[in-house]
Amino acid sequence: MNKTRVLYPGSFDPITNGHMDIIERSSKIFGEVNVAVVKNINKNSTFTLQERVEMIEKACKHLDNVKIQYFEGLTVDFAKSIGCSTIIRGLRAVSDFESEMQMSLANKKLDNNIETIFLVADEKYAFLSSSIVREMASYGADISEFVPEVIIDEIKAKYSNK
Ligand code: COA
Repeated sequence: MNKTRVLYPGSFDPITNGHMDIIERSSKIFGEVNVAVVKNINKNSTFTLQERVEMIEKACKHLDNVKIQYFEGLTVDFAKSIGCSTIIRGLRAVSDFESEMQMSLANKKLDNNIETIFLVADEKYAFLSSSIVREMASYGADISEFVPEVIIDEIKAKYSNK
C-alpha cells in the first residue's frame, strides 16, 4: 500500500453503500483516507452536519486508516490544511463525468498542486444516490440494500418524525 493521504469530500446526506464502496477500495490503495462532510451552501441537507459525520463514523468503524471530518469552504483549502494533495471522487455513470471533470479542473485552477483521482463505482451502485435513499425512506421502503446496516435505524427515525 502506498502512503498517500487522500481526501474524499461530499455531502453524504446520508452515506450510502455506493460511497462505502469508494471508501473501502480507497482505504486498500492509500495510506490514509480522509472522508470529509462538506457544509454545502448550495444544498439543503436533510441530516445535520453532526448526524452525517456520526453516521459515517459508525459505518467506517472497521476501517483503521479512515478518518472522518467536516469542513466549510473550499475543498482545496481544506485539503491543504490537512496536508493532502489528492482528492478521490467516484464516477457512477458517464453523466457524472462532465460535472466531475469541471470540478476537478476548477480545483486545479484554485490550487495547481491538487490532483483528483477517479474510481469507477461498482456497477451495482450506478443508480444509487443519497436522494434516492431519502426518497425510498420517506415512503417507508426497504433501504437495507443501499445503506450500511448500522445507520438504517437513524435514517428511518428521521422520517418517522416527519
Ligand atoms: N455512490 C452513491 N452515490 C454517490 C456516489 C457514489 N459513489 N458518488 C456520488 N454520489 C451521489 C451523492 O449521494 C449525491 O447524491 P444527491 O445529490 O442525491 O444527494 C450526489 O451524487 C452528489 O454527491 P457529492 O459527492 O456529495 O457531491 P456534491 O455535488 O454534493 O458536492 C463537493 C461535491 C462537496 C465535493 C463539492 O461541492 C465541493 O468541493 N464543495 C466545496 C466548495 C468547493 O470547493 N467547490 C469546488 C470549487 S469551486
